[in-house]
Amino acid sequence: MSIRTLDDLLAEGVSGRRVLVRADLNVPLDKQTGDITDDGRIRAVLPTLGALVEAGAKVVVCSHLGRPKGAPAPQFSLRPVAGRLGELLGAPVHFATDTVGDSARSTVAGLADGQVALLENLRFNAGETSKDDAERGAFADQLVAFGDAYVDDAFGAVHRKHASVYDVPARLPHVAGRLVLREVEVLSRLTSDPERPYVVVLGGSKVSDKLAVIEALLPTVDRLLIGGGMCFTFLKAQGLEVGTSLLEKDMVETCGNLLERAAGKILLPVDVVVADAFAPDAAHDTVRVDGIPSHRLGLDIGPETVAGFAAALSQAKTIFWNGPMGVFEMAAFANGTRGVAEAITKTDAFTVVGGGDSAAAVRALGLDESSFGHISTGGGASLEYLEGKTLPGIAALEN
Ligand code: 3PG
Ligand code: MG
Repeated sequence: MSIRTLDDLLAEGVSGRRVLVRADLNVPLDKQTGDITDDGRIRAVLPTLGALVEAGAKVVVCSHLGRPKGAPAPQFSLRPVAGRLGELLGAPVHFATDTVGDSARSTVAGLADGQVALLENLRFNAGETSKDDAERGAFADQLVAFGDAYVDDAFGAVHRKHASVYDVPARLPHVAGRLVLREVEVLSRLTSDPERPYVVVLGGSKVSDKLAVIEALLPTVDRLLIGGGMCFTFLKAQGLEVGTSLLEKDMVETCGNLLERAAGKILLPVDVVVADAFAPDAAHDTVRVDGIPSHRLGLDIGPETVAGFAAALSQAKTIFWNGPMGVFEMAAFANGTRGVAEAITKTDAFTVVGGGDSAAAVRALGLDESSFGHISTGGGASLEYLEGKTLPGIAALEN
């Protein structure tokens, strides 16, 4: 990779220099209490921040959280993240209550060597996500005033052409942080000559979100196992009735074509758990996929499917998994996701969990994170990487 790294920057010496770090601290928050429910993304950036602190840099961290619409919105404040980051670093993190305003200026100016500041949510500023190059550029100009060098460690956001990801590195000496480097190294093992059999497990609710990655993976993989809400559109394409299950009607034909072209590589569920309603306490049963009642909806894959998927996984030498197999947040519909996750941990394959919901599922189900080869911090980013797309954040580091 023709990208300069954090080690290159550290070798130049950063003591007393201001280093602007783009992190992806977009963590899930409890809707009621506002508490951080999964701090995986904060932990993931500690190696980079720790190294900069130790080297005596003045570390200025910026991130987005959620999708505020270009103006301050208190429920998307990064303040709780600053608190948690400080706990994990073992030193207080100075929090700026704006991103590029008076608070940010005085917070950054007040940093001593080896101290860390966190700016308020980048997306409180319309320039961050603007499609207009000049508007994004103007915001980037304000951000670069806080750094003598730039480190991108926000793997989860490298697929976004946003000011802090794309325009800032064009204006400052730039390097890839430890997390971005590791993510790219791992994912490139999947795209260039993976050890075979290479088995991919895809779940989640929408086929339309996964279509591009299915297209890209079909020629490469040996087996593609499909569960989650998206399996019902495939089952429908096979001529089965799916009751009131999630169905993307306009995707049925596309799924039919994919199944034809896949020549047996795609494995679909043979049984599913159907319920009366989308609710944790709904009455539910396991049925075969050709016997889904017209008034019920599928919320998980069934035990026979789990066994079939586990058998395919047990042969694998490389596994990529993205997307839960069912509504794992409800205990009654978590067995499919748990079963597949456990099957993945039992193989001796190189295993990668692709971001977002699947990473949260691993932790929420109490599975041992260390029994997976790599848990990506990027959902959309890891999928777009596997699709072979140019990722704006990576391209900006290469220039
Ligand atoms: C994510 O959670 O997928 C990343 O943080 C990117 O967020 P976004 O999808 O809102 O751009
Ligand atoms: Mg996303």
